[in-house]
Amino acid sequence: MAISKTNLDPNQVAEKKTETSGRKLKIGIIGTGWIADAHMESYLNMPDVEVVAGADLVPGKAEAFFKKYGVEARCYNSDVEMIANEKDLDGVSICTYNCQHAPCAIHALEAGINVMLEKPFTVTLDEAVEVMKAEKKSGKILTIGFQPRLDPNMQQIKKIVESGELGKVYYIQTGGGRRRGIPTPFGTTFIEKDTAGIGALGDIGCYSLDMVLNAVGYPKPLTVSGYKSAHFGKNPKTFTESGRPAEYANIFGVDDFAAAFVRLEGDIILDFRIAWAMNINTPGDTIILGTEGGLRIPSTDCWNGSVGGEMTIYKNVAGLETETKLPILHDSRDLFDKKIRSFLDSIIDPSKGPTVPSGQIIYNQAIIDGIAKSHELGREIEVVIPEI
Ligand SMILES: NC(=O)c1ccc[n+]([C@@H]2O[C@H](COP(=O)([O-])OP(=O)(O)OC[C@H]3O[C@@H](n4cnc5c(N)ncnc54)[C@H](O)[C@@H]3O)[C@@H](O)[C@H]2O)c1
Repeated sequence: MAISKTNLDPNQVAEKKTETSGRKLKIGIIGTGWIADAHMESYLNMPDVEVVAGADLVPGKAEAFFKKYGVEARCYNSDVEMIANEKDLDGVSICTYNCQHAPCAIHALEAGINVMLEKPFTVTLDEAVEVMKAEKKSGKILTIGFQPRLDPNMQQIKKIVESGELGKVYYIQTGGGRRRGIPTPFGTTFIEKDTAGIGALGDIGCYSLDMVLNAVGYPKPLTVSGYKSAHFGKNPKTFTESGRPAEYANIFGVDDFAAAFVRLEGDIILDFRIAWAMNINTPGDTIILGTEGGLRIPSTDCWNGSVGGEMTIYKNVAGLETETKLPILHDSRDLFDKKIRSFLDSIIDPSKGPTVPSGQIIYNQAIIDGIAKSHELGREIEVVIPEI
């Protein structure tokens, strides 16, 4: 499958461009929980948008959400109800827990609505394939919510690799994690099998995968040997020590740690590890090794996809072993504002294509899915991505 910037054909692009010009874009929000706030705040910062509708499965939650912002929006009890009633939405932000990413994205795309889908793409590879089929059929924009992509330090990593300073990249180590950081901000949607589907592996693992895969041009994963565990999530002490109920350990149905050895197309090896909880400060920095140079990217405490400090490039220059520290780059613009703006811009001008296209993130999802499958089987697996 070729990675394309957009699935739209030129005729559809021209048609959409005239349709949206000169009026405010109408947006709906599906799932009005924790991350929906960040979406809403960014939409409120955009002059050419009105959030006209919202939906949440919890009765009254969408109403309370919009009341908090003083926004008069029509409220519904599910994505299905909202999409059936709202006929002129230009786009939706899908801010549901992981297990509802695929069904909501498919409903929206089938109704001809552009989609900003929160990360991780989906829970399984099969779901991601179904979403991409709906995307292709609809000709609409689908972008996945990886805002760290828009961080200038992240973009610098890609620029360094693309500059050729590292030579041919052959080995990547990535991932990281938290000593104690199983997310239970407003309940248990991140740790229940039926809502989250995957744990640290998908939640923060998808960020560290995106950081390096994007830098090296998203090569296709070929094989995966993966492992995952839940030693901390299944232990009541983990929760009581952080002031959470001990019963969360019984509810915990996902992973809190994962590791993998992945072969990528182009003769690149990816060594990956990620943790919501572990008995060490960090399992190591991200490193990218090439034939001409190496890049070290310091890990962060929380691993939310950002760069944890000054990066270092290691090279041999005329027989000397050199180390160059790279300054941290700052950008005053909020990452969520940039993420939402880029979604809106791609609705207005679909020829721009989505900022974070599904054609790339399917490989991210294939690795996550491969780790889960390899763990279940107790052996290395071959990655097979169906034709879309
Ligand atoms: N990009 C980021 O920085 C970032 C940060 C946090 C969370 N996230 C992602 O955002 C997603 C949501 O996280 P959260 O913390 O807001 O979760 P949450 O549990 O607080 O909120 C999710 C909401 O979606 C609602 N919902 C589920 N299915 C629905 C449906 N079919 N129709 C309408 N409403 C539905 C739930 O009732 C719930 O209120 C997760 O996938 C998470 O990985 C992204």
